[in-house]
Amino acid sequence: MPDTSVALSGITLDNPVIPASGTFGFGYEFSEYYDINILGSISLKGTTKDPRFGNPTPRIAEIPCGLINSVGLQNPGADAVIGTEIPRLAKTFKKPLIANISGFSVDEYVECARKFDAVGQVGILEINISCPNVHGGGMSFGTSAESAAQVTRAVKSAVSKPVYIKLSPNVTDITEIARAVQDAGADGISMINTLLGMRIDLKTKRPVVANQKGGMSGPCILPLALRMVYEVYESVDIPIIGMGGISCAADVIEMMLAGASAVQVGAANLVDPCACRDIIKQLPETMQHYGIEKLSDITGGAHNGK
Ligand code: SIN
Repeated sequence: MPDTSVALSGITLDNPVIPASGTFGFGYEFSEYYDINILGSISLKGTTKDPRFGNPTPRIAEIPCGLINSVGLQNPGADAVIGTEIPRLAKTFKKPLIANISGFSVDEYVECARKFDAVGQVGILEINISCPNVHGGGMSFGTSAESAAQVTRAVKSAVSKPVYIKLSPNVTDITEIARAVQDAGADGISMINTLLGMRIDLKTKRPVVANQKGGMSGPCILPLALRMVYEVYESVDIPIIGMGGISCAADVIEMMLAGASAVQVGAANLVDPCACRDIIKQLPETMQHYGIEKLSDITGGAHNGK
């Protein structure tokens, strides 16, 4: 049986497959479809210090091979996630979690990160500086190397758990931001968040999504995500959680060859709630097909013909 285990900052995962933040709720919703303990980990819905209702509807537009979302960080706030959602998830899911944290100021990121740092089951803090759907926060921190480094430095000095910074692809040179967060002390990088896009309704002649623009995800962005992970792998020494359009075991292998140590699966969960289960089931056979005995050995394998 091939070895599917991988490690992120000293945390061993049975396999690299992690549902991406915002596509898997708080996890327990999916336990009626399958045993969610087969997952490598779960990245929880992006959480802010205070509850947020999110953006006006419609928030979703379909595109060929993907979708555009403009959810706007709807969530019940850090205290409710820690007090209600995580305990509910903990009844069925027994592995370390990834807490996905957003904010509108450096202080807010720090306050929220501190709260999740104190939660026993949280293994990694994923700091989202790349949400394209809110004004005055989210992506505005992730599109400048200076502000990305500022958030990273502030959070790192306030917490003890590994800090992974979730990067935006909506920049000219993602390697510059990656290097800045590494230099500021990040333990790892999650990438990529969604790409800003829009659709226009020909009948109303107005944008389909109420917020006009939104983040594109799905299989249509996989080649772009692979290219960016490949470039960032060559620019930093910290682990990368790769995501963007992964929908089968072969995509997982491709993303790891580009440089990812683990992966997140996002839009595929919205098409099929059992997508992660099926990818995990396919992994051993797909590894055997490509002559891979130990999955963690292939990270970055596409570089230097390794
Ligand atoms: C959202 O809630 O708008 C999506 C989160 C994100 O893209 O970071």
